[in-house]
Amino acid sequence: MELMAPSTLLFLLLTLLSLQSSSSSFTNGFSISAENPRDLILSQDKMFSAGFHKVGENAYCFAIWFTEPNDQNTTVVWMANRDHPVNGKRSTLSLQKTGNLVLTDANQFNVWATNTSSRNTVELVLNNDGNLILREGQNGAVLWQSFHYPKNTLLPGQILTRDTPLVSSRSETNHSSGFYKLFFDNDNLLRLLYDGVTVSSIYWPDPWLVSWEAGRTTYNGSRVAVLDVLGKFSTSDNFTATTSDYGRVLQRRLRLDYDGNIRVYSRDHEGQKWYVSWQAKAQPCKIHGICGPNSVCSNVRYSGRKCSCLPGFKIKNDSDLSYGCEPEFHLSCSKNESYFRLINHVEFFGYDFGYYPNFTYKQCEDMCSQLCNCVGFQYYFKKDTGHADCYPKSLLLNGYRSPAFDGAIYLKLPKGSSFSRYSDESIRKCPPRVIERSYVKRHEKVLVKVLLWLACVIAGIEVVGFSIVWSFLTITKKKSGVDQSYQLTPSGFRKFSYSELKKATNGFSHEIGRGGGGIVYKAELSDHRVAAVKRLNEANQGESEFLAEVSIIGRLNHMNLIEMWGYCAEGKHRLLVYEYMENGSLAENLISERLDWRKRYDIALGTARGLAYLHEECLEWILHCDIKPQNILLDSNYQPKVADFGLSKLRNRNDIKNLSFSTIKGTRGYMTPEWIFNLPITSKVDVYSYGIVVLEIITGKSPSMSIEIAEGAETHHGRLVTWVRKRMSKGLEMTSWVQEIIDPAVEGNYDINKMEILARVALDCVEEEKDVRPSMSQIVEMLQNPENYSQQ
Ligand SMILES: *[C@@H]1O[C@H](CO)[C@@H](O)[C@H](O)[C@H]1NC(C)=O
Ligand SMILES: *[C@@H]1O[C@H](CO)[C@@H](O)[C@H](O)[C@H]1NC(C)=O
Ligand SMILES: *[C@@H]1O[C@H](CO)[C@@H](O)[C@H](O)[C@H]1NC(C)=O
Ligand SMILES: *[C@@H]1O[C@H](CO)[C@@H](O)[C@H](O)[C@H]1NC(C)=O
Ligand SMILES: *[C@@H]1O[C@H](CO)[C@@H](O)[C@H](O)[C@H]1NC(C)=O
Ligand SMILES: *[C@@H]1O[C@H](CO)[C@@H](O)[C@H](O)[C@H]1NC(C)=O
Ligand SMILES: *[C@@H]1O[C@H](CO)[C@@H](O)[C@H](O)[C@H]1NC(C)=O
Ligand SMILES: *[C@@H]1O[C@H](CO)[C@@H](O)[C@H](O)[C@H]1NC(C)=O
Repeated sequence: MELMAPSTLLFLLLTLLSLQSSSSSFTNGFSISAENPRDLILSQDKMFSAGFHKVGENAYCFAIWFTEPNDQNTTVVWMANRDHPVNGKRSTLSLQKTGNLVLTDANQFNVWATNTSSRNTVELVLNNDGNLILREGQNGAVLWQSFHYPKNTLLPGQILTRDTPLVSSRSETNHSSGFYKLFFDNDNLLRLLYDGVTVSSIYWPDPWLVSWEAGRTTYNGSRVAVLDVLGKFSTSDNFTATTSDYGRVLQRRLRLDYDGNIRVYSRDHEGQKWYVSWQAKAQPCKIHGICGPNSVCSNVRYSGRKCSCLPGFKIKNDSDLSYGCEPEFHLSCSKNESYFRLINHVEFFGYDFGYYPNFTYKQCEDMCSQLCNCVGFQYYFKKDTGHADCYPKSLLLNGYRSPAFDGAIYLKLPKGSSFSRYSDESIRKCPPRVIERSYVKRHEKVLVKVLLWLACVIAGIEVVGFSIVWSFLTITKKKSGVDQSYQLTPSGFRKFSYSELKKATNGFSHEIGRGGGGIVYKAELSDHRVAAVKRLNEANQGESEFLAEVSIIGRLNHMNLIEMWGYCAEGKHRLLVYEYMENGSLAENLISERLDWRKRYDIALGTARGLAYLHEECLEWILHCDIKPQNILLDSNYQPKVADFGLSKLRNRNDIKNLSFSTIKGTRGYMTPEWIFNLPITSKVDVYSYGIVVLEIITGKSPSMSIEIAEGAETHHGRLVTWVRKRMSKGLEMTSWVQEIIDPAVEGNYDINKMEILARVALDCVEEEKDVRPSMSQIVEMLQNPENYSQQ
């Protein structure tokens, strides 16, 4: 036998040594210092580290975190002294002879201790599940464990009990205790509480629901909650939630975030980014206390939410929005020195003087002006009861603005005051136009080139759009074994087999539409529902990606969005099953001249509502990117439903490359300058296309049609826009310019004010400079209350 090479020996020796030093248990006398960041306690599998974590300038906390390859952006899961950081100099954690684990600040006083004692040898171990335990000897009794003292995070297997609520951090960077608490209430229900400086309120489950309405039970007094390794969060009050990646063994953690939401984060292994696989509240604005008093929260794409002060109020603390806004005025108690200012679509939750059903507006206003401390009132008509209700407010907290909320708040302000308009309402004050129209005189041939090149841009943007949705939604690729969970969604969204759909469409025989990457067929499902089945062109997209996308679309729910009932993904086949719309598309209806002015107005409003929901209301903000009359369908009452949203991501890349010029031609009239100039694509892309569609609704003219304009026939894509602009700017009286553009098929007396508003909104939407265009929710606002925006 040959002798081992010296290098091999050395290697063996080193291996032995490294095994030795990574020993993960420590006994009495052991101590680590904040001065040496390499002093770490590692779990045996090295997934977790414990040691001093820097939380500020010369400020450290003893913490446990997920080990990362380069010690970068570590995720802390537990902290001993989150509210009392220690000095970076001469602070230590030591396991004393008596068995007490003590954290000493600057070698002077103890900021934290486990208060344990034992006559035997005591061992400190970080387990592979992230639990730091103190035990007597190798297999002795556990004296103390970090799992019993959760801070803002629960790890799989860690039990939340009646005595240990989760408390959020103060902010993303400040780890000290914040305002949100996840706890078991005295009726055994697990709740989320906003525990602010001056007020506190519960916001999960929704406070107006009784326990069983929220799917909870008050009868089980054990008061425990746990997240298991497969991704199920279950509590003793019968609440269960499963993550979007349920069933896989991943790194997971549940955290009560500083913004008041509980989220489960997952990832495959260290070094990767965490993604959210479940969260308790879908709408960030519904979390209490988020914007502070006198402030209104609205959902914003990408950043999540925005806080804005009510008119007459200013921000209290720029560096911390949760302080809210403070009044810039003083209100005297005298009844005739105040007035009420209407702010639409804003709801303030709680802090009512009382609930007054079936009140007239006058009664409600009188009551609030008589109450000295009344700061305003919520007043709205409820369809289900058939009368309006009045809620005078003592405080304006938990403000939430949503285009879907039909009520309003009336704010008490001193008479004669003229506060600047509420920031979200300043629609008419447009900033000056920046980009001059420079592509007007392009030739058709150039346009072909631009469009071909554009096809590539679309493919690129798809990738961007996809990753945006990805990061928000963070559905991971699913194995086919997880399909089950899709069938459980409440809307009845389900998977169909190919043979089932072939039968339902009678062998794909009745074609009712084309475009958007596939052909649409009429179908009758086995339960006799009439459906529209869209057969996507053969895709090389994987099934899991397809499922991820489809499940986003399937979860969108709005009366002005077409409902998806299910999908089929078998082999090469990709099909989508939608509800069927009796009255076909807006395009067909415009051609056959079936729409009176009222229907046209309502279609414009409904379409705006659907798009506002896509852009701002739902969590997975989605750009439509292909709005045109063919994609707006009408139900039996001529209510519009937007179709084909979210599909740009399902389309095959080859499909786009092969788009012939004629295919694009159909939609090109609705494309915005951003596409052509390779500018960032935002929701204003949809606003532009929407504006073109509205012009088409008003005039009955197609945007790609050539219209005689005074200077001769223009050939660029803005033809319809130019024509309408010319009419408006001619200096004609309002009646005559609206009369000149309106579709001759609109018979009888139309409301000229409303049609004018509609035309003006549409022209705002098609501004070249995207920042000048209103947002979809502003459009909803204007069309819902045209009287506020009339120029007369
Ligand atoms: C760490 O966080 C910073 C800021 O949040 C980010 O810019 C950076 O990319 C992150 N680094 C890693 C390795 O994730
Ligand atoms: C240890 O005892 C001190 C003093 O009684 C107390 O403030 C602290 O909360 C205790 N620590 C733990 C971990 O219970
Ligand atoms: C963190 O927040 C707490 C409570 O608001 C505050 O007292 C502390 O100064 C903050 N720490 C840092 C580093 O900003
Ligand atoms: C109460 O909840 C616990 C934990 O979920 C469960 O193990 C136990 O069976 C429940 N008890 C009853 C009476 O339902
Ligand atoms: C708990 O939930 C399950 C399913 O949601 C239900 O069947 C069961 O009756 C519930 N238990 C109680 C005690 O409410
Ligand atoms: C504003 O908030 C910051 C951060 O919480 C705090 O340090 C500061 O004292 C606050 N300022 C005022 C005027 O309240
Ligand atoms: C209204 O204000 C005037 C003074 O501005 C006062 O004289 C009058 O009494 C007030 N009326 C009521 C009903 O308070
Ligand atoms: C609401 O009040 C009006 C008059 O005050 C009354 O006629 C009507 O019946 C009430 N409606 C309901 C539903 O109570």
